[in-house]
Amino acid sequence: MCALDYLCLMDQLIKELNQYKSEIAAEKVTDKITLEAFRIKYLGTKGLVKSSMALMKTVDADKKREAGQLLNEFKVFVETFFENLKTTFDTDNNNQQKGLDTTLPGYILPKGGRHPIGLVQDDILEIFGRLGFAVAEGPEIEDDWHNFTALNLPDDHPARDMQDTFYINKNPDWLLRTHTSSVQIREMEKGILPLRIVCPGRVYRNETISARAHCFFNQVEGLYIDEKVSFADLKQTLYFFVKEMFGDDVKVRFRPSYFPFTEPSAEMDISCLICKGKGCNVCKKTGWVEILGCGMVHPNVLANCNIDAEKYSGFAFGLGVERITMLKYGVKDLRLFSENDIRFLQQFKSAL
Ligand code: DAH
Repeated sequence: MCALDYLCLMDQLIKELNQYKSEIAAEKVTDKITLEAFRIKYLGTKGLVKSSMALMKTVDADKKREAGQLLNEFKVFVETFFENLKTTFDTDNNNQQKGLDTTLPGYILPKGGRHPIGLVQDDILEIFGRLGFAVAEGPEIEDDWHNFTALNLPDDHPARDMQDTFYINKNPDWLLRTHTSSVQIREMEKGILPLRIVCPGRVYRNETISARAHCFFNQVEGLYIDEKVSFADLKQTLYFFVKEMFGDDVKVRFRPSYFPFTEPSAEMDISCLICKGKGCNVCKKTGWVEILGCGMVHPNVLANCNIDAEKYSGFAFGLGVERITMLKYGVKDLRLFSENDIRFLQQFKSAL
């Protein structure tokens, strides 16, 4: 006969100890105080490990060896468990070992900055905002109608080749917009006049990447539709923009040009700010840099958006944000804007 019936059966003991083990594993030890409570409960002089060991006295002699092994293994389990918890919570001790001084002030995390393209885009929108232009945006994945057809570029129009287009396999009618002129169509279609908007956004063209060209870049499209809008209004608006953006010293010139969506059309150049007009690589030694295309909205475009071309007229322009940024900050390679080199970006850090 043994003193404790259940201890006569080794598997009973195993079961009991396993039960304790899962209780221990489920203990919620979250800080040093609960860690100490854990130690007292399991490893203290009146703790579970000690009282389990005491049971040895009551075990039959022939079972002592086996029971001793089980109890010892249980003791090691609890001690290891405790030690692991201790290293987690004993951070002061850890820090001292690593030579850390926790009383020192923390690291100052470096502040992020705005991307130069975003900064210049905001400047552009702000300047036109002062003239009453509201901001309008549209989708980067466009349909043929808004990107081409409604802008007076029907299917067979040769000018479609001017912009190498990325089409979307899923649907031949879908493409990545090649310009933000698509947004002027979306806005005119709403039928609310007069309309005075600037449309910022990313555009895509299938071009070989170089210092002067990229397969994606940013544009701001402008549009003003009202009764009696004239080319003089267009010129005055753009003069104002250039002076506000680059200062009074910059020179401006308009050249006749061609765009299917405007008639007449023009391109606007400003004197090269990099070489001050003397001639450099950016201005191709001409002293002038083109910054935008513009013109009077073509009557066909107005008609495509159900606007009465007899009553209303308007001007539009489209400018490249990268080009403006390059001139403003003297950046000579377009690729820098999309490489995310921190040494480049840090130079534009704005006060946030
Ligand atoms: N959409 C033209 C382009 O991406 C730029 C442009 C030219 C926009 C003339 C206009 C415009 O609104 O009138 O090359």
